[in-house]
Amino acid sequence: MRIPEQIQRLAIVTAVIIGGVLLVRFVLIPRSLISDDLHRASTVQRELAKPIKFAGSTACQDCHEDVSSRVRKGYHKNLSCEGCHGPEARHAENPMEVKPFAPRDRKFCPLCHGYDPSRPTGFPQINPTAHNPIKPCITCHNPHDPVPLTAPQECSACHAQIQRTKAVSSHALLQCTTCHSVPAQHKKTPRSAWPSKPDTRAFCGGCHGKEATPKDAPKIDMSTHGGRFLCWQCHYPHLPEGRG
Ligand code: HEC
Ligand code: HEC
Ligand code: HEC
Ligand code: HEC
Ligand code: HEC
Ligand code: HEC
Ligand code: HEC
Ligand code: HEC
Repeated sequence: MRIPEQIQRLAIVTAVIIGGVLLVRFVLIPRSLISDDLHRASTVQRELAKPIKFAGSTACQDCHEDVSSRVRKGYHKNLSCEGCHGPEARHAENPMEVKPFAPRDRKFCPLCHGYDPSRPTGFPQINPTAHNPIKPCITCHNPHDPVPLTAPQECSACHAQIQRTKAVSSHALLQCTTCHSVPAQHKKTPRSAWPSKPDTRAFCGGCHGKEATPKDAPKIDMSTHGGRFLCWQCHYPHLPEGRG
């Protein structure tokens, strides 16, 4: 007797499906994923038997009240102690024997503060390669109470090279602000507010022109000296040289 062709095809398709299911169930999916151990009642015992690694912030507070109260008041109030210090249950039980870990390395803080466009706007972020790149973060920021710092107000704090250059020049006694008007914001976030720079020959002529008042400034004839060039195309203003 001949099996009708449509039944044959149906049998092949059924065989392929059953074979596929068996292959995936017993060969392709690893045994460990199918294991039903996880769903047994004994799982609870098994998890309970694991050693406890985290003590919890309240435990730290019992012995480190000073640090805890500082953290609670500051910008890091929502961080847990062990989020930074790592699991410290063993230290909490035996503080003299088990020395805890403290994340003093520069690489640590950028895990949260390194610039990442996916972080919410307003979250304080820095570029670790450009933000005071040499010293560890904790030399300037207290990890338990990271108050926002203000940048130094002296020009020399950031322009030390220019300050040192000017200091040995004949312009040593001039204030930086005689030639640059500097918005206050420049000293906090330098690139958000730019100081002015002199932009005309007449500016220098204000002291060096024949008619100019300051007696101690050597005079030149503004109409001929240096032609039409700007003064600082020949004289670096922070170290001007004349007779040399
Ligand atoms: C039973 C009291 C006790 C508990 C609880 C405790 N500590 Fe301590 N901890 C100490 C003592 C004592 C020292 C000083 C040990 C030393 O000087 O060697 C110390 C030192 C430290 C230090 C300084 C290590 C260093 O390198 O200077 C850190 C950090 C620290 N603990 C973190 C924690 C954290 C985080 C917790 C909570 C998980 C915690 N401690 C819980 C008693 C305790
Ligand atoms: C943002 C990460 C961070 C958090 C959160 C944090 N710590 Fe620290 N902790 C540090 C770093 C970094 C040091 C090392 C400071 C140093 O060497 O100047 C430190 C040092 C310490 C020390 C050593 C003594 C001292 O005062 O410097 C103790 C004790 C301590 N932490 C306890 C705690 C406790 C308790 C908490 C939770 C209330 C906590 N820390 C939360 C980063 C953190
Ligand atoms: C687990 C993430 C996390 C880690 C690690 C962390 N911080 Fe913070 N930091 C925060 C959060 C959250 C704030 C509060 C942000 C806010 O108020 O919007 C904050 C605030 C700050 C501020 C205040 C900035 C401002 O002007 O508002 C400074 C500075 C700071 N952290 C420095 C550090 C330093 C230094 C370290 C390393 C010792 C560190 N942080 C580690 C999460 C973290
Ligand atoms: C040499 C000192 C110094 C070091 C080292 C330093 N900072 Fe700062 N940090 C500052 C000063 C100053 C400011 C305030 C700048 C300003 O007013 O714009 C600041 C600001 C910040 C802010 C606030 C930015 C904001 O947008 O509000 C964060 C966050 C920060 N620093 C994190 C870090 C981290 C993380 C490290 C280590 C990778 C670090 N700092 C190393 C001095 C330092
Ligand atoms: C917090 C650090 C900081 C302080 C303080 C600071 N500056 Fe600057 N200044 C900068 C930075 C950063 C730049 C940009 C340098 C660059 O991008 O080449 C800059 C640029 C300048 C420029 C160049 C502007 C331009 O268009 O090229 C002048 C001029 C200047 N500063 C003058 C001053 C004077 C004068 C003071 C003191 C009253 C001062 N700065 C204080 C950081 C600072
Ligand atoms: C005699 C006027 C004068 C004084 C004083 C002076 N500057 Fe300048 N500065 C200039 C001029 C002019 C330029 C523009 C130079 C150019 O464009 O080549 C300039 C440029 C700069 C620049 C841009 C970068 C550079 O080197 O050209 C900075 C930054 C700067 N000055 C900072 C300072 C600081 C900080 C002080 C004080 C320590 C200071 N200046 C004092 C006249 C002056
Ligand atoms: C506020 C007045 C003042 C301004 C503005 C000023 N200078 Fe001077 N400059 C002086 C004085 C004062 C001296 C001489 C100081 C001394 O006795 O050595 C001097 C000296 C010089 C010298 C001679 C240096 C030498 O070794 O002989 C040159 C060149 C010079 N300035 C160029 C400039 C240029 C270029 C500018 C404009 C960017 C400028 N100065 C702006 C006051 C000024
Ligand atoms: C083309 C280059 C050039 C330019 C532009 C230039 N100088 Fe000079 N300057 C010199 C040279 C070279 C000397 C030294 C020789 C001399 O005294 O002529 C000098 C000397 C000086 C002296 C010292 C004069 C003395 O008696 O000690 C002053 C002051 C001076 N320049 C100011 C200026 C001022 C201000 C400007 C802009 C208005 C300016 N220079 C533009 C090249 C230049």
